[in-house]
Amino acid sequence: MIDKNGVPAERVLDEIRQLRVGDRPVHGGRLFAYVYDPGVAGLDELGAAAHAESAHVNGLDPTAFPSLLAMENWLVGAAGGLLGGGPGSAAPDVVGSVTSGGTESLILAVKAARDARPELTAPRIVVPASGHAAFAKAAHLLRVGLDTVPVDPVTLRPSVADMAAAIGPETVLVACSAPSYAHGVVDPVAGIAQVAAAAGVRCHVDACFGGWTLPYLRRLGVPVPPFDFTVDGVTSISVDLHKYAYAPKGVSVLLHRDATLRSPQYFAYADWPGYTMVNPVLASTRSGGPIAAAYATLRHLGDDGYLRLAAATRDAVGCLAAAVREVDGLRLMAEPESTVVCFTSTDPALDLFVLVDELTARGWHTQPQLRYADLPASVHLTVTASVAPRVAEFGPDLAAAVAAARRAGPVEMPADLVALAGSLTPEALTPELIGGLAAGLGLGAGPPDRMAVVNTLLDAAPAALRERLLVEFVGLLQRPTW
Ligand SMILES: Cc1ncc(COP(=O)(O)O)c(C=O)c1O
Repeated sequence: MIDKNGVPAERVLDEIRQLRVGDRPVHGGRLFAYVYDPGVAGLDELGAAAHAESAHVNGLDPTAFPSLLAMENWLVGAAGGLLGGGPGSAAPDVVGSVTSGGTESLILAVKAARDARPELTAPRIVVPASGHAAFAKAAHLLRVGLDTVPVDPVTLRPSVADMAAAIGPETVLVACSAPSYAHGVVDPVAGIAQVAAAAGVRCHVDACFGGWTLPYLRRLGVPVPPFDFTVDGVTSISVDLHKYAYAPKGVSVLLHRDATLRSPQYFAYADWPGYTMVNPVLASTRSGGPIAAAYATLRHLGDDGYLRLAAATRDAVGCLAAAVREVDGLRLMAEPESTVVCFTSTDPALDLFVLVDELTARGWHTQPQLRYADLPASVHLTVTASVAPRVAEFGPDLAAAVAAARRAGPVEMPADLVALAGSLTPEALTPELIGGLAAGLGLGAGPPDRMAVVNTLLDAAPAALRERLLVEFVGLLQRPTW
């Protein structure tokens, strides 16, 4: 409850610091998801100071706060220039918007595509199965049909022919990833853009994850296939600045090849008695804080800075992948071609979910991925530049974690629980059943230290049941404190 007389500033800050003790470490190069850390001294302080300068500025009206407009336009120019657009390029008329994150950028790409075709009553989008879940969210929110194209279990990419075959008369957008989050592989963008263009359909490249590193990796000699506006038929690209541009959270850029393509992304409303509203993005009131922080980060790191950070990341990826290759019973899902290392277990005696817990116990926070279609469960590592100084410690710890996981053996779930997870329908879940399950899994007061049992249960469940269980479990955590 709110305090009657308020709390002194230092005490509140102390409280926050105390709360933060339970968080995963956002610095130190041992967290392989959620955060993007370049390990550059002073960058946090710069981002915080820039954020504070503009935190109360409102992006609602660019004419009232030209500072934000100037910074947004600069960020869009920086992203556009990096991704094959701008003066003298094949895409000189590139425009864009600054959004709050990758999900918002993808929702807006789908909205723009949908609203460009108002004559269609049942618009649809075509997305590889490896496309980010945010496309499904966009389809859900915007009531657009989702046509998912399977990926090859070896290359982890969709085939161009399958993508072409999925395009129909109602398709408003074809999407692909550069690279995919789960496995870090770049889809055949040129082929997909070509078949989309031939069908007269927009093509969005989701470069939210890797759009800021792929160009630098290419400059370092990594063979990166064409994926940006240099590719004919690519109509929009998203790139998250709060990922590999290392800006504090809350900033992504959605680029369109020209202003006509961007126009249906906007929402304007003048038919009410208040201020006339025009929103390029989903939010109306927007803090200038994240935009200013991103501006400061990009200006400060500069082109050479990003090249250096990409080189450190590439080296760290190489070392991590080598450590995985060393282990009998582990297999890389794909040879790393960007900044992801993803591996699976080839030995039933080596339970990946137990291994993830063993790595956590050794201070390495990796991300388990559940099995999907004919793809096995896997472990995902998002690698950032901050990993480089610690990377030599990973191999021995991985070996020790593997040995411990083998000693512990696979998670043994009661057979009836596994059978239940495989057969239960989401509709059959009652609050009592959920409560009993959560208590049995140790989810009472928050996530347990060891997640292998929870992951094994989710892994055994079909997607619809996984979704419902996750909603219910997280709902149990999100309760007010009084
Ligand atoms: C390829 C890709 N697209 C979209 C997103 C969604 O981004 P956000 O979490 O910023 O909404 C992510 C996030 O990891 C991603 O990797």
